[in-house]
Amino acid sequence: MIAIGCDHGGYELKQAIIEHLKFRGVEFVDCGCNGEKADYPDIAEKVCEKVVSGECEKAILVCGTGIGMSMSANKIKGIRAAVCSDWYSAKYTRLHNDANVLCLGGRVLGAGLALELVDVFLDTEFEGGRHSARIEKVMKLEVK
Ligand code: RB5
Repeated sequence: MIAIGCDHGGYELKQAIIEHLKFRGVEFVDCGCNGEKADYPDIAEKVCEKVVSGECEKAILVCGTGIGMSMSANKIKGIRAAVCSDWYSAKYTRLHNDANVLCLGGRVLGAGLALELVDVFLDTEFEGGRHSARIEKVMKLEVK
């Protein structure tokens, strides 16, 4: 199960991603917004709660740039959010960082590229191994 959410800057792209998830047969929960003005920290909190609780394994957040969503999401314990606008970063943030939230910029990316980023993010497993100890160190920073 994937959680997805956006503010008004990411609404159009979120809807395109939702159509893509339906086409792929990926189960998702849409946490809004529905096109109305929304503050990205509120949506990030709602979406990330689904990941932290275990209801969803990963999440996708869309705002104008992806940056506000990623800043907000990374304040939440247990979240490793990556804002990506290229395929390599979307792949390696799964392989090396075990990112559990992908943040995208609806005013930055075209839908074609964004859907490729969604696919590689959803389809790539964490590599583990030498990266596990680094992720443990990252997560320890949460308690500082
Ligand atoms: C909203 O206008 C815009 O500031 C927001 O979508 C996002 O880009 C923030 O990072």
